[in-house]
Amino acid sequence: MLTFGLLLTVGVFFWIYFLWSRRRLYMLHAKVPGPLGLPILGIAAEYLILNKRKMTTRTKYLDMYGSTVLLWVGPDPFVVTRDPKIAEEVLLSSECINRSSHAADAIARSAGDGLFTLKGPKWIERRKQMNPTFKHNILLSFLPIFNAETKTLVSLLDTYVGHGEKEILNDIVRWSFRIATQTTVGTDIKHEENFKNDTILRSYQSLLQLMTMNVLMPFTQNKIISTLCGYEDQRMRAASNIQKMITKILDKKLNSKPEGTSQPEINSVINRAIELFRNGQIPYEHVQGECSSIVVAAFETTGLTVCHTLTLLAMYPQYQDTVFEELKDLFPTAGDFEVTYEDLQKMVYLERVLNETLRLIPSVPFAPRETLQDFRLSNGVLIPKGVTIGIDIFNTHRNPEVWGPDAAKFNPDNFLPDNVRDRHPYAFLPFSKGKRNCIGWKYGLMSSKLALAKILRNFKIRTSFRYEDLVFVDNIGMKLAQSPGLDFQRRT
Ligand code: HEM
Repeated sequence: MLTFGLLLTVGVFFWIYFLWSRRRLYMLHAKVPGPLGLPILGIAAEYLILNKRKMTTRTKYLDMYGSTVLLWVGPDPFVVTRDPKIAEEVLLSSECINRSSHAADAIARSAGDGLFTLKGPKWIERRKQMNPTFKHNILLSFLPIFNAETKTLVSLLDTYVGHGEKEILNDIVRWSFRIATQTTVGTDIKHEENFKNDTILRSYQSLLQLMTMNVLMPFTQNKIISTLCGYEDQRMRAASNIQKMITKILDKKLNSKPEGTSQPEINSVINRAIELFRNGQIPYEHVQGECSSIVVAAFETTGLTVCHTLTLLAMYPQYQDTVFEELKDLFPTAGDFEVTYEDLQKMVYLERVLNETLRLIPSVPFAPRETLQDFRLSNGVLIPKGVTIGIDIFNTHRNPEVWGPDAAKFNPDNFLPDNVRDRHPYAFLPFSKGKRNCIGWKYGLMSSKLALAKILRNFKIRTSFRYEDLVFVDNIGMKLAQSPGLDFQRRT
């Protein structure tokens, strides 16, 4: 009896200590509205099990409580916003340059350390070091790869003509993976057996799946849970496949003479990382980490963007026809043609459609930031150090206070210059914005536009799937519960 009493007292003491140590988080809830959810679990069960990570979970609470809410997911509070003004304050602040630890750790475990995962001053330094890799002239040197790989994709899509509706996400992702790897580690990769037979692509996809799970359910990052569930094995196998291949390419380059600065490839990610390694500025593992994580960041995002644009245009034939007219003026003859940078600049309507797609179906729906220090918002709310503030890109893009009552409707005119001018600059942020925005945003837009131009000039695309029936699922890279099939007809 005495032992039980003692245990109870110790238990109560620890519980009170636990609550006391977290008092600032509970005080935050007094300032930022949101549902309490279940004890310990918060809204985790509703989000993960009941709603199967549907985007509508966050939308519901943002509609109920206002554009900035506090959501408890498990024992952790997340401040989530769809308010462009708050997004701007967060994304421009030096106190919020770190990606949330859950996200950074999950990515580092699978893809290694690099720009994507580094924190604080180390990230600032690395960003400066890697920025030259994405300069305009470097991107221009990638155009032959974009053109060649898109030609292969168009030939494949041509075999689908007359075969009814086909799911093409995997084909498009294979295209984006092939350009992401060649532009990151060089075209030598095309000769690797594991690349040709898609083993490396499957390894990357497997890692992405694990990363998403680790980010959305952080308890799966626990080594024991991960090993027991077989995830650790899966991760090790995929990571080792990728590491072996990158090491092979890397060692070949390291054992050859440094390339002259006049070579356009000098600033491709691998060459830049090797240069930094040779100068003693970054460790060897980070050369591998940079190559691996840039491919992760590049391929799924770009593939999803192209696939979603084709899907929306299949649902809205009137807009597809306008795009086609623009392309036909630029490329009078169907079939294969080279797309130049100047051509891309002339695709004004296609760009509007692309932006509208990224608004309604952003390939990255959520950008989580962790406060480095206590951080005060302009509305007076103090966000304690270590709390995650999530910029809800998906819901910012559909915020009716910004986009009006038709916010959820597909309307490329949202990107007419007059409409853009009148909107808050942080109302549209598919590549995030501010200090830690997407380093590859121009690359993503250029490659997507080029692929869309070649596909839409050659095919009329249809689907029986309705826009209203799309179901959006939270993921590192946006997921549709069901991917609509597309039907291809040749254009002349
Ligand atoms: C349409 C395609 C793309 C979209 C929609 C996209 C979107 C984004 C977003 C929203 C972020 C910020 C994520 C966060 O804050 O948590 C990001 C970061 C990043 N993206 Fe992209 N991205 C695309 C293509 C690319 C490409 C092609 C590359 C590289 C070739 C790339 C490399 C990166 C890197 C390295 C970061 C991290 C930057 C840093 O932390 O400094 N992305 N991207």
